[in-house]
Amino acid sequence: MNSIYITAAQARIAELSTLLEIHNYNYYQLSGSTISVVPISDYAFDTLLNELIQLEQQYPQLQLPTSPTQRVGGSITKSFNTVKHQYPMLSLSNTYTIEDLLAFDERIKKGLLTDEYEYVCELKYDGVAIGIKYKNGVLQQAVTRGDGTQGDDVTNNVKTIKTIPLHLTQGTYPNEFEIRGEIFMPHQVFTQLNAAREAIGDALMANPRNAASGSLKMQDSAQVAQRKLDCFLYFLYTPDSNYATHEQSLQAANSWGFKVGNYYKKCTTINDVIAYINHWDSARFNLPFDIDGIVIKINSVAQQKTLGFTSKNPRWATSYKFKPQQVATQLLNVSYQVGRTGNVTPVANLEPVLVSGSTVRRATLHNSDFMTELDLRFNDYVYVEKGGEIIPKIMGVDLSRRATDAKPFIFIHRCPECGSTLVRVEGEANHYCMNEDICAPQIKGKMIHFVGRKMMNIDGLGEESIETLFEQKLLHNYADIYELKAEQLLAIERFGQKTVDNLLAGIEASKQVPFERVLFALGIRHVGENTAKKLAHYFHNLIKFKAATLEELTQVGEVGDKIAVSIRAYFNNEAQQTILKRLVNAGLQFALHEDTLVTKTNKLAGKTLVVSGVFTVERDTIKQLIEQNGGKLSGSISGKTSYVVAGDNMGPEKLKKAESLGVAIISEQQLMELIA
Ligand code: IVH
Repeated sequence: MNSIYITAAQARIAELSTLLEIHNYNYYQLSGSTISVVPISDYAFDTLLNELIQLEQQYPQLQLPTSPTQRVGGSITKSFNTVKHQYPMLSLSNTYTIEDLLAFDERIKKGLLTDEYEYVCELKYDGVAIGIKYKNGVLQQAVTRGDGTQGDDVTNNVKTIKTIPLHLTQGTYPNEFEIRGEIFMPHQVFTQLNAAREAIGDALMANPRNAASGSLKMQDSAQVAQRKLDCFLYFLYTPDSNYATHEQSLQAANSWGFKVGNYYKKCTTINDVIAYINHWDSARFNLPFDIDGIVIKINSVAQQKTLGFTSKNPRWATSYKFKPQQVATQLLNVSYQVGRTGNVTPVANLEPVLVSGSTVRRATLHNSDFMTELDLRFNDYVYVEKGGEIIPKIMGVDLSRRATDAKPFIFIHRCPECGSTLVRVEGEANHYCMNEDICAPQIKGKMIHFVGRKMMNIDGLGEESIETLFEQKLLHNYADIYELKAEQLLAIERFGQKTVDNLLAGIEASKQVPFERVLFALGIRHVGENTAKKLAHYFHNLIKFKAATLEELTQVGEVGDKIAVSIRAYFNNEAQQTILKRLVNAGLQFALHEDTLVTKTNKLAGKTLVVSGVFTVERDTIKQLIEQNGGKLSGSISGKTSYVVAGDNMGPEKLKKAESLGVAIISEQQLMELIA
């Protein structure tokens, strides 16, 4: 390659990187601040980004670890390395009442032997703690809190967070420092994420904190980038600190481009601290992210040193935890929902009431035991709490407002949907409607489960279409899906030609879904994703699975008596067996694919392999084979790569890189020989 071209490319890569980071900072950090900048259009931004992506593809050796292209993600981390923290990641002592807080203030006074001190009060962000190291202005490593002594290296995932600078471009910063903060998921992103999950039948995330921590541990950084995480920074560690106060270090970090937020406040008296707490106790519900308290820190770094640490916490700081908001409201009535497996859940319908910033109308009552425990009566006033979870909880009854003759609720005996007698299985808290072949919500629920992303993953067949097709009497159970005809579908108003083509192609494609997922899709009560996997790998095919006795079933890891009984009940149900036969005839996978049955070896243990190009089988199959034989996969070629498995059309740059590093390049055939 001509070195003139390389030099020009290098200069342009540097120029594009700087430009993109500046636009990124202007867009994500300055928007909403008092500094007004005119942002460039999305189109102009994408044009610059695409130019950079192309240059990096052409000259992979010039790609910088801090390139703005890292924000898009794409790297895969199979397992996160454990890293020891240079400074232990301590937690804070907690206070819950003003008395606790006054006692903390007294301890500070005693420890400092003066009442000349200031506090900095900050929001206590409810997310995942992170420590990020920089060297010469370049982001080096981001590590989670872990057990406080060591955490997980999540650098690639953290690089996708747009408000975390990859490369500092402003101000004078120390050569080396670590900055600590909290990664969180803003409410808006959380709501969108759950709406998308609901649409495909995935379980909902309980709260933004869980969503943030789950996202940070995803293996594919491109997916993390989609999660649109954010981060507030709140503490700086430098070997030789130039800052006399915590506030100064926050201001410095802000000037280098970190998102510090302007919520913090310097307080000179404990009464100022209390006023700050009182303000945020109600104002927190207007914030676009969750906080669970206030952090109170001594401002002077010298005084922090004097006070020091206990084994677990700094003595110079504490947190004040907000109480989850509890509000009383009237119970209007109790309704009952029937789930896909026939489980009947009582739901409290409430006089609408504002709790923790959102209106609550319903709360789950779980099961009849829970109702009995609460001794719930008609027209009771109940206390509702939203403790960070999305489903509000009923915490108790205000007995002082109960009418003397208030009648208790009696749990229903018949299914509210089909009228059949409910059954309570010995040892279980739930009541069930056993009429699974007739009861509408169970039939629809089973079909919705069947087509879900982790099950048959049928494109174009979501909850709404199933409702419509059920109403139109085209679907009575999930086996009918494989007998749907284009003419029938086209006769329905909302199904155009394109929708129908897409739907039928999705149905056809689902016939290749592996056995373990088909087993999960069947919706056998108590057989979840993991159990289905275990069963498929134990029995290998439907014939053996169906023939298994209760004793044989309980030999499978994770399968206890409850699951085994439920499986036998499924195979003894004639209507279900007719449906199952039709699925077998439709050509679904009822045996494990031979590929997944290859003997697992350790022949590739300790080896790192990069897979590139097109093969005679799917690339994922090659990757699976490598892992099944103990090999480690990597997305990019480096000195650590043991083999590059090259298929057809492998990129010339990759080939060159492998050659220049002296990495062995092997074919698909050679890989098979290695693990044979
Ligand atoms: S300061 C030595 N400031 O709360 C300094 N922590 O239990 C310790 N947190 O693990 C942390 N907001 O994850 C600090 N403004 C804030 C914070 C904050 C949230 C979290 C952090 C920490 C936990 C302490």
